[in-house]
Amino acid sequence: MTIVSLKNISKSYGIDVILKDINLTLNENEKAGLVGINGAGKSTLFKILYGQIKPDSGEIYIMKDKKIGYLSQSLDLDEDETIFKEVMKVFQEIKDMEKRLHELEKLIADPKNIKDEDYHNKLLSEYGYLQEEYERRNGYSCESYAKGVLIGLGVLEEDFNKEIKYLSGGQKTRVALSKMLLSSPDILLLDEPTNHLDLSALSYLENFLKDYRGTILIISHDRYFLDQITTKTFELKDGMIEEYDGNYSFYISERRKRTEQRTKEYDLQQTEIKRLEGIIEKYRSFNREKSIKQAESREKQLSKIERIDKPSSLEKAA
Ligand SMILES: Nc1ncnc2c1ncn2[C@@H]1O[C@H](COP(=O)(O)OP(=O)(O)O)[C@@H](O)[C@H]1O
Ligand SMILES: [Mg+2]
Repeated sequence: MTIVSLKNISKSYGIDVILKDINLTLNENEKAGLVGINGAGKSTLFKILYGQIKPDSGEIYIMKDKKIGYLSQSLDLDEDETIFKEVMKVFQEIKDMEKRLHELEKLIADPKNIKDEDYHNKLLSEYGYLQEEYERRNGYSCESYAKGVLIGLGVLEEDFNKEIKYLSGGQKTRVALSKMLLSSPDILLLDEPTNHLDLSALSYLENFLKDYRGTILIISHDRYFLDQITTKTFELKDGMIEEYDGNYSFYISERRKRTEQRTKEYDLQQTEIKRLEGIIEKYRSFNREKSIKQAESREKQLSKIERIDKPSSLEKAA
């Protein structure tokens, strides 16, 4: 089932065309990489998917009630908050429930309320409902879950009470990434998530994403990381998307094959074009009515050929 798709998306900045009529589809629980050289428009594509910027034209579809999480290259954290509090904001609703449960406990135990049977029953039923909901949403374990993710990504427990503003860029990335993972979105958009991560955090993230039950699109230059997680690769090049049904390594080998195939087709076409041009030139040089007609008919044939762009065979893969 398609969970998210872009249809005929175009975007320009001034005279620079960044995206030309892009089509891209992700199925539920699909994990894909988005690759391309610097400045190709990858981050722009993410911002369009997330709804942060509007395309010039085209449509964005997101399955109903599905939540998108976006880890951008610029992090969005409250500088005055401590690490742990900032991360626990993800569980605000659960924390509110917890507060209400405590209130209810007091109200239920209050002798005044026990006398009022109707009211007391109401309190009990709200308590029962909330209690169930709290358990269903893992209220008891969300703190330890948050701790586990932070530590997994290399944030030291002794730093949990440090304010964000005192953290290095790398530490901020880890906090933002923790927040993102803990919020469990249906669709995860990760823009260069491995920047600033050391080996152990990298391998933690790799495993987390491998096991993640959701749709993931990752921009990364780390081919080993992509290889571990993705089963599909989109390459953004010259404003267009080319899709590959496999991980990064598959993309590299398949891309080579496609380029070779296209080069063959291009060479064949060039030979055919040269042949026709030669014939035309010859007929024209005869300068007879009949031969001019022949030339014109060949010119028509030549103009009908759909020109294949020269494949850039020697360029590096993204
Ligand atoms: N807000 C903007 N205004 C003008 N140009 C922009 C803006 N954002 C990005 N660009 C340009 O669009 C191109 C694509 O940028 P970006 O999407 O960040 O590429 P990538 O993430 O693939 O490196 C770049 O040339 C960049 O300079
Ligand atoms: Mg970018």
